[in-house]
Formats: sequence, structure tokens, C-alpha cells
Amino acid sequence: MSTQHDVKDLNLAELGRKRMEWAEQEMPVLRLIRERFAREKPLEGIRLSACLHVTTETGNLMRTLVAGGADVVLCGSNPLSTQDDLAAALVVYDNVPVYAIKGESNEVYYQHIKAALDHNPQITMDDGADLVSGLLNQRTDLLKDIYGSTEETTTGVIRLRAMANDGLLTFPVIAVNDSDTKHLFDNRYGTGQSTIDGVIRATNVLLAGKTFVVGGYGYCSRGIAERARGMGSNVIVTEVDPVRALEAAMDGFRVMPMVQAAAIADFIVTATGDKHVIKRDDFEVMKDGCIIANSGHFNVEIDIPALESMSTEKRQPRTFIDQYVLKDGRKINLLGEGRLINLASAEGHPSAVMDMSFANQALASEFLVKNKDQIAAGVHALPKELDREIASLKLQAMGITMDTLSAEQEHYLTSWQEGT
Ligand code: ADE
Repeated sequence: MSTQHDVKDLNLAELGRKRMEWAEQEMPVLRLIRERFAREKPLEGIRLSACLHVTTETGNLMRTLVAGGADVVLCGSNPLSTQDDLAAALVVYDNVPVYAIKGESNEVYYQHIKAALDHNPQITMDDGADLVSGLLNQRTDLLKDIYGSTEETTTGVIRLRAMANDGLLTFPVIAVNDSDTKHLFDNRYGTGQSTIDGVIRATNVLLAGKTFVVGGYGYCSRGIAERARGMGSNVIVTEVDPVRALEAAMDGFRVMPMVQAAAIADFIVTATGDKHVIKRDDFEVMKDGCIIANSGHFNVEIDIPALESMSTEKRQPRTFIDQYVLKDGRKINLLGEGRLINLASAEGHPSAVMDMSFANQALASEFLVKNKDQIAAGVHALPKELDREIASLKLQAMGITMDTLSAEQEHYLTSWQEGT
């Protein structure tokens, strides 16, 4: 057992271990990597600090990194996403120092980030770029030991590219989100299923026949729109990008400005990565009983301070629902404090998609160690061969075979002489 930790209750460890084993059955690619890591020890002695959602899938990633020889510390990447039983299991059975408690205050959240940085990491692994922000803002003394970082999510990659543009990023970062085997699956099918799961677990309200508004049409939001349609909702998409708005329209969704959509919505879920996607003007026109939630990384997509200032009362009809009563008596139901609802009230993306995301994370950390001092500072994608290797392993695990190009076809694809 690790003596270093700040978790809710170590007595939950056995439950966490069982759930981690259950998740592992759906993570065959990560399992293969773990078995190879155990033989080859590519991360031997490497100090690695991870700031990720502390879930059963993350538990399996931690075990993979430890099998590879890494000296790992884990903290949560969101105050409301931690699975306390899993945090306890990693401490008790896998000897991993974990700093994460579901429902922790912002103050404790940042204390936990500090604890992860105090590990003096050579590699950091982020979901949202909070460790890298901490390094650059508070702990520049640690930069000398950093080989590089990995980043899981769209929001984190956007922040890191902004740091690079400002000339601040002095080491390489592998943007795991840029891998096809990450964003095409985790963002779309993972967010799609887990967000609907989160909304249902929080409310137990029927989706069929309801008007369901989705803010954004990136990979995450299109996953949500598709799955809400599958549940029988009438789905409306809001966008600011003309190409994405057009795609949404041709995928068969109604597209309109948020303020028009808000007036007819039964549900509104945001996943844009931007702030104040639902704001005062929208609250002003919402129907009584409207349910609003966010599945983007930060709790800024809904202007909660505006909602607070417009309300006379706040009630809690169920766990994960804050019901705001407006001056005219209308009630607006905010789920999960505006934090990512798929992890706040549900369990995050299913293991089968996290298998590929975390295979990318494991291979990215190995890539940083193998290529130490050879990768330029800045944000990079994982090499395409590794991305394709993950897809091949996943297909194999799913028992799916496919065609291969003949020599004649390969030649055709690299030449220009042949026409009709
Ligand atoms: N992000 C979204 N779902 C997740 C999960 N199940 N585990 C870790 N990070 C996640």
C-alpha cells in the first residue's frame, strides 16, 4: 500500500479493484501493451505524474505504466469525476499514490495538483493541461527534469497550443487527442453514450419525444446529438462554425441560434469547449422545467453566476440536480453543477473506447522516453504508425478482419498515368 495519498476511504478498495477488473475485460489493447511493458520495462525508473479522471479505466492505465517500470503519482483532473473506490484500490493494491476525492473543493483540487507536481515528474500526463499550467505558472524549478508531456483532451490541446503560440512551451507535448484512434471514437461514441447515460442517471426523465438541444457539432457534440436522436428525441444543434452547422443540417438535425433553441428545449447539453454557450438571454426564454447540462471539459459553458443572479431560490430535488427558481416562478434544472455530466453522475466513457485512448497515452509516454531530447518543443501528434497499430490491435481483438491492398492497387495509388 502507498503511504502517500489523499483519498476518501481506503475501505472502498476491494469494490474498486473488482470494478477495475470488470473494466479491464473491455480493454484488450491496453492489456497487450501492459504485457509487453512488463517484459520490456520501457519506463523503468521514470517519474510520471498523471492528472486524469480517476476512473476504473484510468486505474488500468496506471497499472500499465507501473508494469512498464514507471514511478507514478495520480491526481484527479476534475473535482467531481473521481470514483472513490477506484482511488482507494490503486492506493491499497497497486501502491500508487492517489490524490483525488469526489466532490473536493477547488482549493483541495489544486492542493492535489500540487502534490502530483511535488513528485518532480520527468513526464506529465494531463487531461485538460492543469499539470502543464502548474509547471509553467508555479513550478518552473521543475522544468529542467521534464522530458515531455501527454495531453488527453481537446480543451487541453487548445490550451497547450495557446501556450506554444505565446512562446511558453519549452518541452514537447504529445496531443493524444489528435490520434484518429482517440478523437474519432472516445470523443464521438464515448461522449455520446456516457453523456446520455449521465443525463438519465441524474434525472430518470424520458428522452423520447422531447426537444433535445446540443451546443456544438465537434466530435463530442455530434456523438451526443446522434445518441439523443437514437433515444427518440427531436434534436437541435447550435453552432458558430458554418461548415459544422452545414454538416449538422445535412446529418438531418435542425440548426438555429441558441436563444431560439432555448425557448423550445426540454434538454440542453453543451460540449463546445467555449464559455457561456448558455447565458442570461437563453435563461430568460427557457420553458419551465428545462434541464441543462454540460459535457465539455470545464464548468464554464453554462453561465452559472448569471443563473444564480436571476434566481430567488435553489433547491436539490435529486442528487446531481440544482433547481433554480427564477423571479417569474419558472424552474431551471442544472445537472452536475455544470461539470462534465458524463463523469459527474455516470462513469465516464465506456472502457472499450478508453482502451484506445489509453493505449495512445501509454505509447505516447514510451515514445517520449525513447526519443528524449530529440523531439522539438511544441505540440505533436503521436506518429501515424502507432495510431494505426492501435486500430489494428483493436480490430483484431474485436475479431474483425479486413482487406489488404494488392501490389497492383498500391502502385495505382502512388501513380498518375492510368486514367479511364
Ligand atoms: N474521460 C471520459 N471518460 C473517461 C473515463 N471513463 N476514464 C477516464 N477519463 C475519461
